Amino acid sequence: MLGYNAMSPGPTLRVRPGDELAVRLTNGLDQPTNLHTHGLRISPQGNSDNPFIRVEPGATFDYSFQIPTDHPAGTFWYHPHHHGTVADQVFGGLFGALIVERPDQSLGIPIAADRILLISDITLSNDGSVAQSGAMERAMGREGELILVNGQHQPAIDATPGVLQCWRIINACVSRVLRLRLQDHAMTEIARDGTYLPAPTSQPQVVLAPGNRCDVIVIPSAGRHQVIAEPFDRGGMGMMMTGGRGVPTAVATMHSDGSPATPPRLPDALPTENSRAGRTRRERRIDFRMSMRGMGSRGMAFTIDGRTFDANRDDQVVRLGDVEEWTITNSTPLAHPFHLHVWPFTVVATSDNTPSSGLLQDVVLIPPQGWARLRIPFTGFAGRSVYHCHILDHEDLGMMATVNVRP
Ligand code: C2O
Ligand code: CU
Ligand code: CU
Repeated sequence: MLGYNAMSPGPTLRVRPGDELAVRLTNGLDQPTNLHTHGLRISPQGNSDNPFIRVEPGATFDYSFQIPTDHPAGTFWYHPHHHGTVADQVFGGLFGALIVERPDQSLGIPIAADRILLISDITLSNDGSVAQSGAMERAMGREGELILVNGQHQPAIDATPGVLQCWRIINACVSRVLRLRLQDHAMTEIARDGTYLPAPTSQPQVVLAPGNRCDVIVIPSAGRHQVIAEPFDRGGMGMMMTGGRGVPTAVATMHSDGSPATPPRLPDALPTENSRAGRTRRERRIDFRMSMRGMGSRGMAFTIDGRTFDANRDDQVVRLGDVEEWTITNSTPLAHPFHLHVWPFTVVATSDNTPSSGLLQDVVLIPPQGWARLRIPFTGFAGRSVYHCHILDHEDLGMMATVNVRP
């Protein structure tokens, strides 16, 4: 496998608002790489969260990520972002959690165990090495045969009945949409994509597209309870290619024993962030497309608005400070998770009438032939960055574009 400091996941990076996170990345791979801090609201320029940086094999690069003093606390993650090599590198094990810590007690929830569940998937060959993916798998978006939690297969999660845990769940899979439930328990969501909900929200399951995170409060009851990944249909292209139609799979088991405690009451309200966005200045339409390339060339083209990724082209030019409304459409039979760096958005309307949460998020799944309308406040940072499909195979195949936010 691949690793950061010979580990997969890489080290958990914990920062506080106002910190400078300094990372020296030395590339011991035989192909280019770089580092992206997924979800952080920081500068995309220079040696900050700049997806255009290319660290060659053998080279070293010093990153400096300045976390603003007003950055929200929450669950983020990091992974490579060099176009063309991202899916293989993440599949191979390159990812890690990045936590912006909250001040103690700020939630009013007595969390006894604050856990990270960084979920990835992988396929191993008979000799134990990471399996290569063929053109068809890449076109569909590869799903690994094994689902790992913090790099482990079906680990145990220790718990005491009635003693609260917070699970920070991160979907680091290349393509798999995670639909997760915990046997005999509700999933009480308190945050999504690094933003607190207005109030704890109990639901039977959570759905995370690749890149999404959620923080869930678990109040354990006694006994053994499996965390189960339910199949999620990502659509398909005829008989040959279908995505995510597997069987329910246990990914971890919570072992809860000891003398039960009386569970505390959860607060009615959380320190949610109101998106103080002003009036919309401009509307745009962005379309995920797939087309057959000519005979003899490499299969299917994955594009945004008919164009494959070109790092030197400005696809959207935006004025810093403007609020824009982007309608992301999907003209393909596959679901694509839309992701934008640096500037989180609220989803205001969707083709399947999902009620708007009004919360800032950074990945939204666009169903086959569906659409979502986003409100994006382009505030805080100027610079060039990218938006793309977070099925990393699709991103590598070209489903990525640039946005230039100009002061
Ligand atoms: Cu986690 Cu550009 O992505
Ligand atoms: Cu990102
Ligand atoms: Cu896609």
